[in-house]
Amino acid sequence: MTDITTALVNKPVEEAIQYLLEQYPGAVAFSTSFGQEDQVISDIIWRNHLPVRVFTLDTGRLFQETYDVMDLTMARYKQPVEVYYPDTTAVEKLVTTKGPNSFYESVENRKECCGIRKIVPLNRALEGVKVWITGLRAEQSENRQGMETLEWDEHRHLYKYNPLIHWGYDEVLAYLEQHKVPYNKLHDKGFISIGCAPCTRAIEPGENPRAGRWWWEQSQKECGLHG
Ligand code: ADX
Ligand code: SF4
Repeated sequence: MTDITTALVNKPVEEAIQYLLEQYPGAVAFSTSFGQEDQVISDIIWRNHLPVRVFTLDTGRLFQETYDVMDLTMARYKQPVEVYYPDTTAVEKLVTTKGPNSFYESVENRKECCGIRKIVPLNRALEGVKVWITGLRAEQSENRQGMETLEWDEHRHLYKYNPLIHWGYDEVLAYLEQHKVPYNKLHDKGFISIGCAPCTRAIEPGENPRAGRWWWEQSQKECGLHG
């Protein structure tokens, strides 16, 4: 275990973030999609007045309900959320040449769209960042089961801190309820994991939480943000 991992063991999330801020002042950032896990983390950050940069990636294809919870969150906490958009020229070229729904045609096209609308803006948002906080949970997928609370991202050269990695879904729900945190109304309609509107559907009881993401694909169901 590295020193930094040892220092985080058994610390409550707010203390762990405080420690990371002391180690890397001004270089700790949290990415939120306003999903349930992310709303827990935002609440912890702002409730404890932690000077973490909070940003979101607006792909231009989000659900209206996602904009609604973004709005409610901004109104409730009155804290800055940096909103990153994709490069206009890249989106114009993509949609002009391939149409608005190219992602349904092949995995390659889908990854191209995710690349333009999410990955490039993410990399821009992470410039100069030393600790990237995410709302990943191990239960969400096979790929995420192998993830740790603190990981070194070899590709981006930063630490990824996943404070909820070992939280159960019930713990997330209990936190949101206890603190009356605003949530995406799509969660009341059978949606668990929520991404872009054309690429997310509700799931049936018993289905994997991520079954509604890129549901027409048999692939790993990751967009490149986390693997
Ligand atoms: S994804 O890779 O499939 O899109 P998922 O929706 O499970 O990711 O979310 C996992 C974590 O990735 C979130 O907790 C959040 O930290 C980050 N994330 C996902 N989508 C966004 C987004 N649009 N903006 C900012 N962060 C995001
Ligand atoms: Fe494009 Fe769908 Fe990826 Fe969103 S999730 S960036 S719409 S392919």
